[in-house]
Amino acid sequence: MMSSLDPALALQKPVMTVAALHAAWSVADPAEKVRQTRLLRQAWLAGVCVLETPLPDAPPVQAPGRPARPERVPPSQLVPRRAGQPEGRVALIHALAHIEFNAINLALDAALRFADLGEDFVGDWLRVADEEALHFSLLRSHLQSLGQDYGDFPAHDGLWEMVVKTAHDPLVRMALVPRVLEARGLDVTPQIRARLEQAGDAASIAILDVIAQDEIGHVAIGNHWYAVLCARRGLAPLPTFQRLLREYDAPALRPPFNLPARAAAAFTAEELDWLASLPVPGRSP
Ligand SMILES: [Fe+2]
Ligand SMILES: [Fe+2]
Repeated sequence: MMSSLDPALALQKPVMTVAALHAAWSVADPAEKVRQTRLLRQAWLAGVCVLETPLPDAPPVQAPGRPARPERVPPSQLVPRRAGQPEGRVALIHALAHIEFNAINLALDAALRFADLGEDFVGDWLRVADEEALHFSLLRSHLQSLGQDYGDFPAHDGLWEMVVKTAHDPLVRMALVPRVLEARGLDVTPQIRARLEQAGDAASIAILDVIAQDEIGHVAIGNHWYAVLCARRGLAPLPTFQRLLREYDAPALRPPFNLPARAAAAFTAEELDWLASLPVPGRSP
């Protein structure tokens, strides 16, 4: 981890935030994307960043910087991620690293595409991007310690597809990315953790625990901005959310939900009651 602001960055006062976000978003090399993202957060916290006026146009959403590998395949072609077998466990860690790599781009994308929401919004999503960069780095280092690297297994692109579908409206983005996809991470983490525990993989568990704690904060940021944007538009949050899930063909919300983690991430009591009422697939309601 970097402990001090890069001297070159510190000298370039002030840092043009959206241009720097765009630069980090565009970088294909994972290590360089991590470096730029983490430096930019440091610069933000050091108070040397400004939001440009007027704001530059956001780039087309389809093409964030990412390496040629991993090969992108449909979910059916992925290596089975059974934590109990060495190859399956490495595939699982790779899949988590891929999610975190996409999550860096996702958070940078929110900050730069919707920068007109102001400094608080940009600061929140830059925090998310910085933490995703840490998560990716931890998982990649662990993969490397196991003789593999990011890119060695195929991966799928489901996360970014929803980013593309929601690029036109921050309310829709907040509804369907942090509140659906990242919140899904809160739900599945306890099961993944249990599988790694059975496999005796203490190193992976330590990383997963860092991620789980941070992800509560990411979902809370999504919930906060979703509520703010609904209030500004005079929309009722839960019915609007239910409508957007249908309109955008979002992945089904599947129990069991991690309701304590979702409560910690500021889902409302009304939302938690509704989630708790959803039927478990394969069981009658
Ligand atoms: Fe993460
Ligand atoms: Fe996240």
